[in-house]
Amino acid sequence: MEREKIISEITRLKKEKDVIILAHFYTDPEVQDLADYIGDSLGLSQMAANTSAKIILFCGVKFMAETASIIAPGKKVLLPDPTSGCSLAESIKGSDVIAWKKKNPKGVVVSYVNTTAEVKAYTDICCTSANAIDVINSIPDGKKIFFIPDKNLASYVKIKTGKDIEIWNGDCCVHEYYDTKMVLDEVNKNPDAELLIHPESNCSHDPLIYKKPNSYILSTTGMIKRVGVSSAKRFLVVTEPGVIHRMKKLYPDKEFIPCDEYNECIQMRKITLEKMLISLRDEIHEVKVPEDIRLRAYPSIEKMLTLH
Ligand code: 13P
Ligand code: SF4
Repeated sequence: MEREKIISEITRLKKEKDVIILAHFYTDPEVQDLADYIGDSLGLSQMAANTSAKIILFCGVKFMAETASIIAPGKKVLLPDPTSGCSLAESIKGSDVIAWKKKNPKGVVVSYVNTTAEVKAYTDICCTSANAIDVINSIPDGKKIFFIPDKNLASYVKIKTGKDIEIWNGDCCVHEYYDTKMVLDEVNKNPDAELLIHPESNCSHDPLIYKKPNSYILSTTGMIKRVGVSSAKRFLVVTEPGVIHRMKKLYPDKEFIPCDEYNECIQMRKITLEKMLISLRDEIHEVKVPEDIRLRAYPSIEKMLTLH
């Protein structure tokens, strides 16, 4: 089917079936263009919690659709490609968290939202890159914290909060690639550009980067907001390049330089218009978290959402 037909068919089915399309900033630009809401992990969770639509067509990866299913059990959550996973979420299992809790019965488990529903079931509180520092600061001093699964975000948060944090050795294959040397090479080529860095990046907790004037460590939404208030005209963007599509739409008079335009998340990019149409038309690839896991995972997400 040609592209225009696919788009009009998705639009028709959306109305007929009472659907909201949610898309992460890292999805393909043409997927973002069809979404009702484009956001970061926190914004997408908030949207899933508040929508009145019957079906959520979730254009992102599996842990995000699971989060939506945990928060909104009465909705049908569809993930257009059921194989769309995440290297970070898959780096830790529920049994790893149980083992830590056995050794640290008074400890607090903080899970980055990039975790499976099973891991969230053993989590005390979730966070995203947008609220990780606030979440850690909400934990009383003196408590040992297990921050899972992203080692780079954890290291950055540990520096910023000074809390007693044990770090799980997981990483995102997209952001781990952005090391200090690579980023500083791009900075040298673009000395006038403001530097926007996602905290999952390998370089985010290096003082050479976070202490640099004109450098900001931010979630994807944080980056977009920063562009809006900054007087800079050029921005060097250190994250998955999909977010630049949104930046260009909102700020067409500013210039955005991807640190690496080819460093795409292959999982997010599995979502295509064709797969969206098939999933919506046939109502297939539903993500439904089993009720016993959902009930145990829900409080950790709810606590995070009530902090905002
Ligand atoms: P945010 O959307 O929270 O910035 O996270 C980035 C990411 O890697 C999502 O998978
Ligand atoms: Fe996972 Fe990284 Fe892709 Fe986000 S960008 S979904 S953390 S692999």
